[in-house]
Parts: sequence; structure tokens; C-alpha cells
Amino acid sequence: MLFRFIFLTLIYYSYVALAVDGWSGSSYSQFSTSQANDASILLDQLGNHQRTEKIWVFGCGTGNNLAQFYLRLSPSHIYANDISKSMIEKAKERFDDHQDITIEQLDAIDFEASSQIDLAISVHVLHWIPREKIQQLLSVVDANLTAGGKFAGVFSASKEGLPFQNCLDDLKGSNKYKNHFLKFVQAQTFYQVDELRGLLTNKGFTIEILTSTPRDKIFADFPALKGFVAQWLSEYKYLKEIDSVLSERFLDDLMQAYMKLTNQHADKEIHWREKTLTLIARKSK
Ligand SMILES: C[S@@+](CC[C@H](N)C(=O)[O-])C[C@H]1O[C@@H](n2cnc3c(N)ncnc32)[C@H](O)[C@@H]1O
Repeated sequence: MLFRFIFLTLIYYSYVALAVDGWSGSSYSQFSTSQANDASILLDQLGNHQRTEKIWVFGCGTGNNLAQFYLRLSPSHIYANDISKSMIEKAKERFDDHQDITIEQLDAIDFEASSQIDLAISVHVLHWIPREKIQQLLSVVDANLTAGGKFAGVFSASKEGLPFQNCLDDLKGSNKYKNHFLKFVQAQTFYQVDELRGLLTNKGFTIEILTSTPRDKIFADFPALKGFVAQWLSEYKYLKEIDSVLSERFLDDLMQAYMKLTNQHADKEIHWREKTLTLIARKSK
């Protein structure tokens, strides 16, 4: 009995305990190695030619990537913000003793630096910015950057056609679940390369890199992949608001379908394919 209670509590805090804004700082910091690897690749692409006195990290989440930005770019100051209370609390815990890192709970579109910044950087955030807000966000990036400053980001592209998306579409449309999604609205916005190029060049940015690349990722085991999916999957977050048992069942069914379709076994490392967009743009001098 006691064992069962401890087990269920652990499951709850690993996957289920989402904050009111849909993000759980504790589960995110545990299951976001994939995003940290993408941040590292982005830094490689950025190179060290960039003068990075002041950096603005928007959508910093739990701060997983702040440490590598701090170490690899050696900025004089990092301004980091995130709209989620749960995420920002975790980030503050980690960087409490750093005078040169300012962490605030803030919508990126409300950011105003005290003096202009050299680099705006963001990892897996742009696909959470709705289409009606993206122009405003790019204007804020532009307004805060110094002339010649850079805007670098990596974020998700649509998963259309990938095995995971096929499983998700099938499951959502199945008799078992379709009635639960009648009011579902997708929280993510997937931008196309051409669309972003247009938006950025209209704002006067020069594009240095803007590519959509398939990425093959490997997760150590099944719980690692499931935990990763649980922290961003909009459908799971949506069901969680309605019924936590139903959301867990849905996630289980989805992950089983994915494993079956890709012919993988839970006791081995798991392969996962996604498409990421990488962006490096420079503000005109
Ligand atoms: C997938 S997480 C990425 C976190 C972090 N960048 C990382 O790579 O670990 C997406 C983050 O974007 C944040 N976010 C979404 N919209 C935002 C906005 N308008 N302003 C600031 N943060 C936002 C969410 O709260 C969430 O923490």
C-alpha cells in the first residue's frame, strides 16, 4: 500500500504536476536535455565572432540553458525572462547568487532593456508565440538590439508527416478520444522558413541562417522520452485541465502507438525524429 502511494506520488510529480500556466518547472528541468542539446548546437552555429556584452534570453524556462550561455559567451550581463511562474521560480533558485544574471517573470513582448543588448537568444520558444503576436515580438527584439546585434533562436517546426504526429492524429480522431478534443485549440504555432524570412526582412534584419533541419534524437529510455513529450504536448496539457486520469491514459496510448509504429522497445534507447528551425539574423547597422 505504502509502496503504491510512493510510486503514484512520484509519477504525479514527474509528469502530472503542471502549473496553472501549463508548465511545470520541476518536470521541465528533469526532461529537457533535448532542448539543452539544441541550445548547444545553436551556440556552435553562432560562433565566437559575436560581441556579446549583454544578452537577452527570452522564454528562459527553468534556466537550463543560461549556464551554457554564461560560460560560452561570457557576457557582462544576462537578462532572462519567462512568462511562466513555475518555470521562472526554478530559474531564480538556480541563479540566485549571480549578480550578472537578472531573472524576471515577464511576457517577452513587454521586455525593455535599460540599455541596448548585443544578442537576443531563445530556445524552443518561438513556436509558443501565436501568429497574432509574432510581429509585436520581432519589434521588441528589434527595439532592444543594438545596431549589428543578433537574434538567434532554435525552435520546433511542424511535425506533419513524422511518425509521432501520425500517431497523435490517429489517436485524437479515434472513437476513444475524438469527443474529448471538440474544443481543443492548438497552443503551438509552427512557422515556415519563408514566412519568418519575410517577417524578419520586413523589420530590416539580415538573415545569416534560417533553416529547417530534421534532427534525430536518442532518449536513454522510455520514461525519458515520455517525460520529454509530457512537458510540451498541448493535447496532454489540454486534457490535464479536464481530467488528469484521462490525460495520463491518452499519453500512455500515444506513446505505446509511437513505439509500435517505429518498432522500438521500451527497455532500449529510443529514437525520435523532429524538425527544428534555426535562425540567426542581424539587425542593420
Ligand atoms: C519549451 S520551453 C523552453 C524553455 C527554455 N528556453 C529551454 O530551452 O529550456 C518554452 C518556454 O517559453 C515560455 N514562453 C512562452 N511564451 C512566452 C512569452 N510570450 N514570453 C516569455 N516566455 C514565453 C514558456 O513559459 C516556456 O517556459
